[in-house]
Amino acid sequence: MTNNPPSIIAIDGPAASGKSTLGRRLADALGYLFFDTGVMYRAVTWLALQRGMDLRDEAAVTMLAETTQIDVLPASKPDGRACDVIVEGRDITWETRRPEVDANVSVVAAYPGVRHAMSEQQRRIGQRGKVVMVGRDIGTVVLPEADLKIYLDASAHERARRRHEENRSRGAASDYDEILSKVRERDYIDSTRDVAPLKVADDAVVIDSDKLSADEVFEQVRRLCE
Ligand code: DC
Repeated sequence: MTNNPPSIIAIDGPAASGKSTLGRRLADALGYLFFDTGVMYRAVTWLALQRGMDLRDEAAVTMLAETTQIDVLPASKPDGRACDVIVEGRDITWETRRPEVDANVSVVAAYPGVRHAMSEQQRRIGQRGKVVMVGRDIGTVVLPEADLKIYLDASAHERARRRHEENRSRGAASDYDEILSKVRERDYIDSTRDVAPLKVADDAVVIDSDKLSADEVFEQVRRLCE
């Protein structure tokens, strides 16, 4: 790639728009750290469920987020993971992908205190540079000074279709209509919350991936890096 690529790259967009695939590939190409910030909200959600907490108890969930150390480290195993998620010394990478986490994470991510605790940690890592950070509020709130901001969009239908195909290719049971309704529900919660809602940063480049392959999206962003 180019000799002088942007150092801090923010990629935001709705669930299942292909942000992680793009971010991972870009970070690999540039030799940068890939940081998927969604895993931090997932880790808090998993831990709260594990402890049998009532997720509607905002104060308790916030306290948990403020006092738990979540480490997001480069992947230690070639099992398809993008990174290792370690909480209290335990590798919970795959636990953060469980359906009960999917179903509850938007609620946890809407709590202002939880967001504050997570954003501080993300900011500290992002400001070191040479990073591709992926999330919902990276270009708007966490790293507004990012050198390149991408907003990767796709219609709810297309995102649900991709998830459905992914499930089927893994041999997992999958219901398209159910996936579509969950995608819409998460979009709604993520984009209407009071703090740091999902929205396009003024200076972001919007890429609509509905009619683009993963390769074509990567190619567009690679050109933007030059
Ligand atoms: O990208 P994901 O599906 O792993 O995100 C999980 C949840 O966390 C989702 O509800 C959006 C939220 N999230 C957020 O609010 N801010 C971020 N920077 C990243 C994720």
